[in-house]
Amino acid sequence: MNTSRRNFILDTGLTASGIALLSNGMSSCVSASDKVIVALIGCKGMGFTDLSAFLQQPGVICAALCDVDSNILNQRAAEVEKLTGKRPDVYEDFRKVIDRKDIDVVIVGTPDHWHCLPMVYACQSGKDVYCEKPLGRTIEECNLMVKAAQKYKRVVQVGQWQRSDPHWKNAVEYVHSGKLGRVRSARAWSYVGWKGSIPIAPDSPVPEGVNYDMWLGPAPSRPFNINRFHFTFRWYWEYAGGLMTDWGVHLLDYALFGMNQYVPKSVMASGGKYAFPGDAMQTPDTMMTIYDFGDFNIVWDHTIGIYGQNYGRGHGVAFIGEFGTLVVDRKGWEVYPETTSTSAQQGMKPVPLQPSTGKGLELHVKNFLDCIKTREKPNCDIETGAHIARIASLGNIAYRLGRQVNWDGDKQAFKNDPEADKLILANYRAPWELPKL
Ligand SMILES: NC(=O)c1ccc[n+]([C@@H]2O[C@H](COP(=O)([O-])OP(=O)(O)OC[C@H]3O[C@@H](n4cnc5c(N)ncnc54)[C@H](O)[C@@H]3O)[C@@H](O)[C@H]2O)c1
Repeated sequence: MNTSRRNFILDTGLTASGIALLSNGMSSCVSASDKVIVALIGCKGMGFTDLSAFLQQPGVICAALCDVDSNILNQRAAEVEKLTGKRPDVYEDFRKVIDRKDIDVVIVGTPDHWHCLPMVYACQSGKDVYCEKPLGRTIEECNLMVKAAQKYKRVVQVGQWQRSDPHWKNAVEYVHSGKLGRVRSARAWSYVGWKGSIPIAPDSPVPEGVNYDMWLGPAPSRPFNINRFHFTFRWYWEYAGGLMTDWGVHLLDYALFGMNQYVPKSVMASGGKYAFPGDAMQTPDTMMTIYDFGDFNIVWDHTIGIYGQNYGRGHGVAFIGEFGTLVVDRKGWEVYPETTSTSAQQGMKPVPLQPSTGKGLELHVKNFLDCIKTREKPNCDIETGAHIARIASLGNIAYRLGRQVNWDGDKQAFKNDPEADKLILANYRAPWELPKL
């Protein structure tokens, strides 16, 4: 870390000096001195990557870390101290972090089943929030989170950082230019070649230093099992939604954006544990979801254990047009002219790889920090994050019901489908409950 920046952080102290009221009437929690006091809830994986990106920005101070695993908490506190010269305060219970008046921003880096309550409570206490994706585990949570951000006038950035990486937007602009001709199909995929089977493991004693009941929180009570814990929680319905929501929110977001259509008429999905039938994962290792928009389809396609040969990319979005196909992923975008139809006579030229800046996360964090001062909407605002979390969730609901579902985007409800309606609900374990807003 650059020494002058380190000294700047050491020199600034930890207390925000005042609450500014900006001209548009939305209260900013950022102090007039341009310091931003940040706390991280959920410190192991992406949450700490996010915090590290925050700490690269001028004026950011990490005052507090919170985790229910004290091993991780202490390790991360030592890392922050090494980076900034000051050890943050550490907490096991996130409500104590939310109660602190000096904190401007909360980063929510917990597993999906633990995004909603810290985010809503933070909004209620006047903090702005950087919340990891998918915004909520269930549609009911997403709806409440939108309500909280709107009611308490908070700036919320959802961690879909592709929304701030310029090459994704440039790719969408190319699609919107019409040069591809009519696009009848867009395909988004995630082929996770590096991941193998998760062998079944017996339940075991809770590891020392872990508050497991607090890790479970609103999820059903059950004995500790290592497979359902750090990182691999994402393969269990009680905590997350598998690859359909994990990568789906990043990539379907751009598929919808590119097609300028946001609400499908119907959704169907098919898949299963085809690669690893007997293993410990609940969510499907192989799955396809078709979103029908009336005159075009968006297809979601995921596999675990295969890298795949979708344009040589393990993930991406392809807009398949009459004259050519544009493919975009985190590396960049390019266009392949159509060669097998009369459309090829349009004389379309290939567009070579237009590379990414490689700074998506950094730009996303910077955009959020700018917005907490201006009170403008950030690049992945709460409505955008909630919408795509709902759309990805619809894929899982269709898969779990084994049939087509029809969604009413205006009412945010299924059309005459009480069975599907049940899968919208959060169903929290007491004493946790969704706040009434
Ligand atoms: N934006 C991205 O590119 C990206 C990448 C990876 C993960 N993510 C998202 O980040 C989130 C976390 O994923 P991960 O892979 O980093 O998970 P992880 O399991 O590695 O880390 C989660 C941390 O949260 C802690 N935690 C759990 N419950 C808590 C509670 N009640 N209070 C405080 N701490 C608690 C855990 O102990 C753990 O340290 C997920 O929602 C995931 O989808 C986003």
